[in-house]
Amino acid sequence: MHVSVIVVLLLNLVLPCLSQLSLPNPPSLPPNASSGAVPSLGGYPNRQWASLLGNLLYFYEAQRSGNLPTSNRVPWRNSSALDDGKDAGVDLSGGYYDAGDYIKATFPLSFTLMSICWGATDFGRGYDLANQTAYLDDMLRWGLDWLIKAHPNDDTLYVLVGDPDVDNDYWGGDQNIPTPRASFQINATKPGTDVAAGAAAAFAACSNLYRNKGFNNTFSGPATLANASYADVLLTHAKSLYSFAVNATGGRKIYQKSVPVIASSYGSSDYGDELAIAALLLSWATDSQDFHDQAAAHWTKYNLNEQDGVFNWDSKAPGVPILFTQVLQSSSSISGNLSEWQSIAEGYLDKIVGRRSPGRMTKDGLLYYNGDSDDASLNPALNAAMLLTRYAPYASSNDKRVAYLKFAQSQVDYTLGNNSMSAPYVVGVNPNSPSNPHSAAASGGNDASTIDTNPVNTAYVLYGAVIGGPDANDKFFDIRSDWPQTEVGLDYNAPLLALAAYNTMQTTVDPFYTSLKAGAYVKPAGFPCDAVFSQGCPSPKLSPGARVAMAIGITIVGLILIGLVAYWYYLGQKHKRNTF
Ligand SMILES: *[C@@H]1O[C@H](CO)[C@@H](O)[C@H](O)[C@H]1NC(C)=O
Ligand SMILES: *[C@@H]1O[C@H](CO)[C@@H](O)[C@H](O)[C@H]1NC(C)=O
Ligand SMILES: *[C@@H]1O[C@H](CO)[C@@H](O)[C@H](O)[C@H]1NC(C)=O
Ligand SMILES: *[C@@H]1O[C@H](CO)[C@@H](O)[C@H](O)[C@H]1NC(C)=O
Ligand SMILES: *[C@@H]1O[C@H](CO)[C@@H](O)[C@H](O)[C@H]1NC(C)=O
Ligand SMILES: *[C@@H]1O[C@H](CO)[C@@H](O)[C@H](O)[C@H]1NC(C)=O
Ligand SMILES: *[C@@H]1O[C@H](CO)[C@@H](O)[C@H](O)[C@H]1NC(C)=O
Ligand SMILES: *[C@@H]1O[C@H](CO)[C@@H](O)[C@H](O)[C@H]1NC(C)=O
Ligand SMILES: *[C@@H]1O[C@H](CO)[C@@H](O)[C@H](O)[C@H]1NC(C)=O
Repeated sequence: MHVSVIVVLLLNLVLPCLSQLSLPNPPSLPPNASSGAVPSLGGYPNRQWASLLGNLLYFYEAQRSGNLPTSNRVPWRNSSALDDGKDAGVDLSGGYYDAGDYIKATFPLSFTLMSICWGATDFGRGYDLANQTAYLDDMLRWGLDWLIKAHPNDDTLYVLVGDPDVDNDYWGGDQNIPTPRASFQINATKPGTDVAAGAAAAFAACSNLYRNKGFNNTFSGPATLANASYADVLLTHAKSLYSFAVNATGGRKIYQKSVPVIASSYGSSDYGDELAIAALLLSWATDSQDFHDQAAAHWTKYNLNEQDGVFNWDSKAPGVPILFTQVLQSSSSISGNLSEWQSIAEGYLDKIVGRRSPGRMTKDGLLYYNGDSDDASLNPALNAAMLLTRYAPYASSNDKRVAYLKFAQSQVDYTLGNNSMSAPYVVGVNPNSPSNPHSAAASGGNDASTIDTNPVNTAYVLYGAVIGGPDANDKFFDIRSDWPQTEVGLDYNAPLLALAAYNTMQTTVDPFYTSLKAGAYVKPAGFPCDAVFSQGCPSPKLSPGARVAMAIGITIVGLILIGLVAYWYYLGQKHKRNTF
């Protein structure tokens, strides 16, 4: 038996038995937005970063579905959708609403959980310093416990609750969500390799976090929420789902072939990336050479090396060489070609930093990928910043390390107000924050045809929500109906959460927004140029990836625009579902 195993066993004997970490009493609540205009007077940890971290987690609490516990901190949210799963004879209540609407979608949820657990493994001390680890635990369990229910046996995974086509027609509060809400599954004969492997990856990443398995040479160890029995439960689901993904009777296929209704919102472009990252996270969870070798085989078989695009809910390949580097630097029982993975990782990151990636810089300095950034422009940039920051300690030279961190910080600064709009793109953290997020629940409205005017003032502050982001010209229009710019999403918050944890432990300098003048954000004249508003705009340019996707006809939805001219090709596979 390994010495470490004995130590863990002994620790389990002496530590008191708790369930999840107990939440602070009184609870930690988001401060008023005006407090984000007050520079902190030094001190470590920096109070503003700690507070931003808390807000970013609080957003997830506002997205909760199901029976809310007495510890609920969001006064305007109610228990909702308690009958989810009844149509299938299972309890699928709980979990998180995906975005500004009320569907529950397993594929982006899994990516979000994987991302947060991976980030809390690398930057865990940030959560501890901010006194937010109990909320992290609470947030993760609300998602993971639902994902466990969505996986009732080895070969079944529920991938969607609520038909997006029905849900898209509803704009209102959490008490009148249209019912019945259908549940959609994959199974042995109708599989979905990507979504099964994606859920396996989430379970494995979170199992590692709850196992307190940190990586060597990184910024810090995991946040202190270790729980070996929970880690075991998560690992069991990870292994089972990975086997289902690899060996389903019905073969390997993208999941919208089995569940076509998901195609227009969260159709997947491929499954090789999910297989690779799931196998790799499992190799780290189990110290297994076999899983490592499977991950490497998926990488080769599915040509993942040929991708230099974004890292997001649909596209995980760019994270794989980074994770290989971390695993090989940390495990003494797994061997592989560390220097090769490092060079692949650096090839990808160097292109971003050296402006040689398909991404380009906007005038104000946002990393922008034509196509992928056309809605939710902040997400590709923040995911890149997260990968650069995570990888920096492993960089082969100090110059690279410095360049990666500097570029990453520029994207964080942009997001938090270093842009010509003087807008920090997180709700409720500063007087210049967006005040009209595309969130049906927060808006207080109940009429899909008058989203912007009814009510005029958004009813509830959706503290901590990262919104989609400005357009390609750095213009931001704080308009509720303009979902490409103002919608919120589970996956939008995830990278900034990791970056806020990093900043909480690494810097005493405030987030950019404390230096902004109140009232400096002024809504630009005219309209945005995006999928909702298009008058006077040049015709859309699609990225190569988007053209390929169109060519293979995955998802093209014609959008009729606000009673005006033109209709726009909407590539559902690459972005959020809302068509208001
Ligand atoms: C670990 O988590 C499990 C499952 O939530 C819980 O029942 C148990 O009490 C926790 N144990 C410790 C030591 O915190
Ligand atoms: C926030 O603002 C409200 C209204 O301006 C005020 O009543 C409340 O005391 C403030 N809370 C904090 C924590 O500053
Ligand atoms: C965290 O809690 C400790 C102990 O209560 C307190 O001293 C510290 O100021 C808190 N830190 C933050 C950032 O709130
Ligand atoms: C929650 O219920 C209260 C009381 O009925 C209502 O005022 C509030 O708008 C509801 N919240 C949402 C998000 O619908
Ligand atoms: C398997 O999944 C497909 C696609 O969701 C569904 O139509 C079918 O009813 C499921 N089979 C069983 C036995 O539930
Ligand atoms: C898939 O099935 C093969 C053949 O039964 C088996 O050897 C392999 O271990 C399975 N893979 C997984 C990941 O379960
Ligand atoms: C990672 O760190 C641990 C603890 O210091 C050490 O035992 C292990 O050998 C390291 N792994 C590698 C591959 O160097
Ligand atoms: C590792 O990869 C590098 C770069 O591809 C290659 O030159 C080297 O021979 C490989 N080493 C081993 C041990 O396979
Ligand atoms: C803000 O961004 C610009 C680039 O657009 C950069 O030159 C400037 O240094 C940034 N300011 C700060 C304080 O980081």
